[in-house]
Amino acid sequence: MYNINSIRNDFPILHQKIHNHDLVYFDNAATTQKPQQVIDAIVHSYTKTNSNIHRGIHTLSQLSTNMYEKARKQVQQFIHAPKSEEIIFTKGVTESINLIAHSFGEAFIKAGDEIIISAMEHHSNMVPWHMLCERKQATLRFIPFNSDGVLDIEAFKNSISEKTKLVSIVHISNSLGTVNPISEIIEIAHSHGIPVCIDGAQSIQHTPIDVQALDCDFFVFSGHKMYAPTGIGVLWGKESWLEKMPPYQGGGDMIETVTLEKITYNTLPFKFEAGTSNYVGAHALGVAIDYIQHIGIQHIETHEHSLMEYATSKLQNIEGLSIIGNAPKKAGAISFKVQGAHPADIGQILDKKGIAIRTGTHCTEPVMQFFNIPGTARMSFGMYNTISEIDYCCDVLNKVTRMFL
Ligand code: ALA
Repeated sequence: MYNINSIRNDFPILHQKIHNHDLVYFDNAATTQKPQQVIDAIVHSYTKTNSNIHRGIHTLSQLSTNMYEKARKQVQQFIHAPKSEEIIFTKGVTESINLIAHSFGEAFIKAGDEIIISAMEHHSNMVPWHMLCERKQATLRFIPFNSDGVLDIEAFKNSISEKTKLVSIVHISNSLGTVNPISEIIEIAHSHGIPVCIDGAQSIQHTPIDVQALDCDFFVFSGHKMYAPTGIGVLWGKESWLEKMPPYQGGGDMIETVTLEKITYNTLPFKFEAGTSNYVGAHALGVAIDYIQHIGIQHIETHEHSLMEYATSKLQNIEGLSIIGNAPKKAGAISFKVQGAHPADIGQILDKKGIAIRTGTHCTEPVMQFFNIPGTARMSFGMYNTISEIDYCCDVLNKVTRMFL
């Protein structure tokens, strides 16, 4: 049984009024709220165990190190990675992709090479590749999508050549909600010997992830979108790639020895974790994973799927409102526009009714350029959202759209 009331009781922030209305939090694609268990874990770390990791033989340092390394194992199990050494803690998806772009780029990209991404990528899976291509005089190519928000897989196949060195693709689009056929994309790329990076920012919290079954080469995600704090994220990569990639940043903990003449680097994963890591965040991420596993990621997926279906059918019946992105397989987010209204107006009116949605380009400007719109209004769901919240939001939207007709 999916006990929605007990889940909601775990999230203190949900139980407040915004502009005298019960808060309806539909901005989960931007960041999720945190259960009390995660908040308590942070407080516990700073009140009982805080000490720098990998650097002390005293009790607190040992405790702190053990909690950090336990979290690494929890992440490994959660995404079914073969080895915990392949889990690199980062600040989030943006840092994970910048790490790959720099480090993989340094080792494997040269002038004339090509990298393929899609035209629906979040800027965090677009700008680092642009920057790499500028640095290396390489070319960035794009898989187009159609007006439903579905990737053109034939165009992808046709864009592959012997120059292609990497494919990097978003699993679930943050602005369109499209669930991309990543298994098929990985299989196609691998049949040409090309590695694939998957941006899991919008999938890790909604659907089970098994990196071995997917057989991707890199998988990245952020803690704050999966009920953990900000400032902690993950880069998983196959050991065979990570071993061949040079360090991204230099500093403490990532070295084996330093002399004035020469530096040798630490083993995985430490080679990629320069400086004091966000060990409190990593511990809290482990607690968030425990929380998700306690409820069951499959159960969360089923619940959110019914919210998506219900909201889609209700929104489709609102006159003057059109959904942007109508892929047959969607998860997490629904974007829409309202005839005669700027998305920001919709966001402001909903806010006055206690409803938090995101409006704008959602860091996917090329998607907005494709649809020739300034942005969208976006509802995005988490494990704690309810059908009655959707009913309330759609009632408000029904009145709002009539104002602009
Ligand atoms: N990437 C986040 C979003 O889609 C911030 O809102």
